[in-house]
Amino acid sequence: MLTSSFKSLVLSASIAVLVTFTNAAPAPGPPPVSHLDSCGILGAKKPSEITYQDIANCYQAIPFNNTNAAATFSTIYTLFNEFYVFKDAAMTPNLQAPFSSPPTDIIGKLEAIGRTKYTSDHKFHTELRRAINSLYDAHASYNVDCYTQYYFVQNLALYAPVIDDVQTIRVYSDIAKSPQREYENCLVRTINGVDALTYLKTWADEELNISHDAGVRLNAALSFQRFNRITKTFQNADSKFSVRANLPPTATIKYEIQCGQAKPVALEEPWRIVSLVEDKFTDVKSFVENVCATKPEPAGAEDGANAERNGIKGGLIHMKEEPAHYKRYLAYKERLVAEAEAKAHKDAAPAPTHAPTPPKQQFPGADLLGTGNGTAFYHLKSQPDVGVLVFHTFDAHPEYEVPNLIKGLKAFHDLGVTKLVIDFQGNPGGYVNLAANTVNTFFPSNEFLATNLASDLRVTPVIQQLAAASFGLTDGIYDAAQYIDFDNNNQAYTDDSLFLQPVTYTRGGRTSQYTQRTTATDALAPTDPALATFAWTNNAANIRILTDGRCGSSCAIVAHHLTNVHKVEAYAIGGNYGSSLSMYSFAGGTVSDNKRINDFFEDAKIASPLKPLPYASTIGLPILEIYAHGSAVPLEYDAAVYSSDYRMAYTNTNSQDRLVMWGEVASHAWST
Ligand SMILES: *[C@@H]1O[C@H](CO)[C@@H](O)[C@H](O)[C@H]1NC(C)=O
Ligand SMILES: *[C@@H]1O[C@H](CO)[C@@H](O)[C@H](O)[C@H]1NC(C)=O
Ligand SMILES: *[C@@H]1O[C@H](CO)[C@@H](O)[C@H](O)[C@H]1NC(C)=O
Repeated sequence: MLTSSFKSLVLSASIAVLVTFTNAAPAPGPPPVSHLDSCGILGAKKPSEITYQDIANCYQAIPFNNTNAAATFSTIYTLFNEFYVFKDAAMTPNLQAPFSSPPTDIIGKLEAIGRTKYTSDHKFHTELRRAINSLYDAHASYNVDCYTQYYFVQNLALYAPVIDDVQTIRVYSDIAKSPQREYENCLVRTINGVDALTYLKTWADEELNISHDAGVRLNAALSFQRFNRITKTFQNADSKFSVRANLPPTATIKYEIQCGQAKPVALEEPWRIVSLVEDKFTDVKSFVENVCATKPEPAGAEDGANAERNGIKGGLIHMKEEPAHYKRYLAYKERLVAEAEAKAHKDAAPAPTHAPTPPKQQFPGADLLGTGNGTAFYHLKSQPDVGVLVFHTFDAHPEYEVPNLIKGLKAFHDLGVTKLVIDFQGNPGGYVNLAANTVNTFFPSNEFLATNLASDLRVTPVIQQLAAASFGLTDGIYDAAQYIDFDNNNQAYTDDSLFLQPVTYTRGGRTSQYTQRTTATDALAPTDPALATFAWTNNAANIRILTDGRCGSSCAIVAHHLTNVHKVEAYAIGGNYGSSLSMYSFAGGTVSDNKRINDFFEDAKIASPLKPLPYASTIGLPILEIYAHGSAVPLEYDAAVYSSDYRMAYTNTNSQDRLVMWGEVASHAWST
């Protein structure tokens, strides 16, 4: 009681001071001196008044604390040294096309950070994040709440269409659009004084480490459309160049823009700041305590979804989860939209909220027949024998999604659809058993997992201890009872020999131990007899995949099996014009994080080797790797199975209208 009223007293006192400060008449002479420190100045501002420099000053004022840094470093080092499944494979030199990422020795990079004397806390955490990103593996990430609570947004969103065989950077959309400012589709000649396409390719290679393929990185830097499962429409999505969670290096970006034949205009665009901060702070010390520090978890607060994801029972998860700060940024944007709508309809009668509404029809040339949690089914009017299955995420429960998928396919069949375009653009992955069921829905088989999803995990003394304590107890990823013994008729392991009898591989010049090849005992849903009646079932000629290369994780597993095992042809759009493009990225393996790994130890009732993290943060990393059938190279690094059959380019029509893009695929694939 006492403490909290004391705190609010301090806070209102400092706000009062600042109000006086900002309202002071701009009199000549020396500016008034504020007693607030850099974070105090930031904390006292209204969200709309915050500038880039306020945030930069606060971040830079946070002192490096050796005790905290040592604990953070120890946990990250242990995770990557003991558990990270690609610790050695990441050192593979000279990856072949479509890959273009350099080899990374994550242990060497971390050790170099461990030897560096830092004075800035922000710099320390930034270098850890960049070291982990240099793996070019979207499953591996380091997100610290402390430095991601302010978003930085540019007015201009960009894209890279190909017009008359030339790829250029153009304006996709402009938040500051007005009758005096009409830049949409205008040419962006330069960014910060450099040719715009060159600038963005370099930026994507250095700043977006989400794929081994530079073309996929360019796609992620730029604008695109994503299916929104709430509105059931395609909407413009945030591009990584224009919307950032981490402090950009400069307060503005300079563009030279040319509309048609008009004289080029020079723009210098500041960042719009979006504050996601919920906790109050009045100075550097309280910023660290309230915004950065790990908050004690309320007892018994374990969230059901996370509990399920710790185990294998809910399905191994292969996905890049959006960081918590991005989910909050999206929630912020949804609030803005809702507020704007509420304002617009202030006088209109309130809409009935729970009545089921028929799907909104976005495209005059296609009927949206229905949706699932990860799917949408469109029927093309110009080519009525073609159906488009949009599979935008695998983060959907198979128990709902598989029956819904089959229902949608039956609706296609009943309308005379014989050919399918499966649109995987931007799909970040999800449940592996949904992935397995999806492959099985198009190419029914009883042995998908056992024959096609061979996997292994690293074996270290720490993992052996964990596996011994977990056996038959935790149902978790280190419980050998959850895995199939390929040498014993694909029966589940009856002891922890999976982890006790490791094999040794040398990769990228380093030698480590791994389990035998195995796979999870995940159940597959029985296939529906109706599948046999569909014209595309077991018929690769009647299926095409459409991807932008950001089909990740579980999506990558599906795309890999449909194309490489079942010979479905794939169209990949965007990337660098004239270069090959991956069909998928971060096929990797099962992703885990510091919290889940701690839970594995807790469930096994042994002490975790991970030190508690002083700052609220999530360290993501894959801990199980999969292989293409018969390959000795983990799929994540198996560049030979990534390139698409056909390349497509964004144009000024197809990039803003998905129906146009689908039509291009369907007519190329099936018109005679
Ligand atoms: C560093 O952080 C620890 C734990 O939060 C704290 O106890 C200690 O006083 C800090 N050290 C310095 C020099 O501020
Ligand atoms: C991406 O990886 C490169 C290593 O090739 C590294 O230098 C860079 O800092 C990484 N970028 C980010 C944003 O982490
Ligand atoms: C979506 O998921 C929820 C549960 O998470 C389920 O109740 C619902 O039926 C699902 N919808 C579809 C269309 O699959």
